[in-house]
Amino acid sequence: MEFRLSPGGSINGEARVPGDKSMSHRSIMLGALAEGTSRVTGFLEGEDALATLAAFRAMGVDIQRHGAGEVVVNGVGLHGLKAPAQPLDLGNAGTGMRLMAGLLAGQPFDSTLTGDASLCSRPMGRVITPLELMGAHIESSEGGRPPLHISGGRRLQGIHYDLPMASAQVKSCVLLAGLYAEGRTSVTEPAPTRDHTERMLRGFGYEVLREGEVISLEGGGTLKACNIDVPGDISSAAFFLVAASIAPGSDVLLNHVGINPTRVGVINILQAMGADITLKNQREVGGEPVADIHVRHAPLHGIEIPEDQVPLAIDEFPALFIAAACAEGRTVLRGAEELRVKESDRIAAMAEGLTTLGITNEVLEDGIVIDGGTLGGGKIRTFMDHRIAMAFAIAALRAQEEILVLDCDHVATSFPGFDALARGLGLQITVQREEA
Ligand code: S3P
Repeated sequence: MEFRLSPGGSINGEARVPGDKSMSHRSIMLGALAEGTSRVTGFLEGEDALATLAAFRAMGVDIQRHGAGEVVVNGVGLHGLKAPAQPLDLGNAGTGMRLMAGLLAGQPFDSTLTGDASLCSRPMGRVITPLELMGAHIESSEGGRPPLHISGGRRLQGIHYDLPMASAQVKSCVLLAGLYAEGRTSVTEPAPTRDHTERMLRGFGYEVLREGEVISLEGGGTLKACNIDVPGDISSAAFFLVAASIAPGSDVLLNHVGINPTRVGVINILQAMGADITLKNQREVGGEPVADIHVRHAPLHGIEIPEDQVPLAIDEFPALFIAAACAEGRTVLRGAEELRVKESDRIAAMAEGLTTLGITNEVLEDGIVIDGGTLGGGKIRTFMDHRIAMAFAIAALRAQEEILVLDCDHVATSFPGFDALARGLGLQITVQREEA
């Protein structure tokens, strides 16, 4: 599938983006391991979260889908999972694989985690190392790549782990393994990362402590079923925050978006570049802050992105690089080497596409320098990365010529219906399916 975009235009109107991907994964995992029935609303029916749902069904959990983001999970308790008959295929989802590695390390049965070509090229040593320190046994392919073969029946010991990189997936993996470990499991992170695991565990009645930099929990407790209302994903909203900011005449209201402080780097960075973004109707839904976000076109200027914002905007850089390309002057990003191990090497992938559009940029080991300019048009490779595809789709609003974004199938991993929603707001996007 390819996106064909006519150049220019603006976006206007109101929309609600699909549910948060991080919370959707966690709602299935914790719902499955809880005692009792949990009802999830606003669930992201994207391929990533559905792969997690299918994995828990394959371990004997009764999960009902009632359509329109409503899912009912009949939890089996922390010790109620059954051995899966086959390897669990998590598709494109790093979150699914890394968090489940933690949970599966504590089960009495063996399991295998696998995924698509992108996921099978991503590093898993970062979760294998702490899990083995806890007593797990995990075999991987060369270089710590999936598939992961996790041995069951190991007794896990609580550990303290100093995370070597700012990663919510690694933090969550260790904490979830800690549910099965003897004693206390604790982590410290080099910089704050998304804290949905901690918040949701508390929502399920599990005590998670935060003392200064140290986050900890005690193994051997129970999770009690609860209802979860998943807000819209700020990572999906980000494409429209940038789209409206760069396209003259734009005015958009995005309803019911999660604005957890560990996720709002994109808003902070865009505002520092001069964006006109306001949060309305701020409220708390199920332990997570939520708001309606109003964004209007404003002239942007380049900035040096503060490094403390990097983990808070880690998934939004493809969209932010488009903002930088449309800004006056130079934008510099450093301290973002983690972008190289996402669904693609996002620094290299974005640099290639920006160069195709005629934007001057310099790739750094841990970031990029982008000089704002005039966007041309052309064919863009996505490296099968959903966020690269959506970033270059919105770039068309400021392009001089048509943009053809190749290989857009992966958009459905995080944002099913992106093209229809974007078209409804005014983006001139058509979808072409390759001939069979
Ligand atoms: C996620 C954490 C981040 C993020 C990913 C979702 C999560 O990954 O990029 O899309 O749900 O915990 P890292 O932990 O690798 O930074």
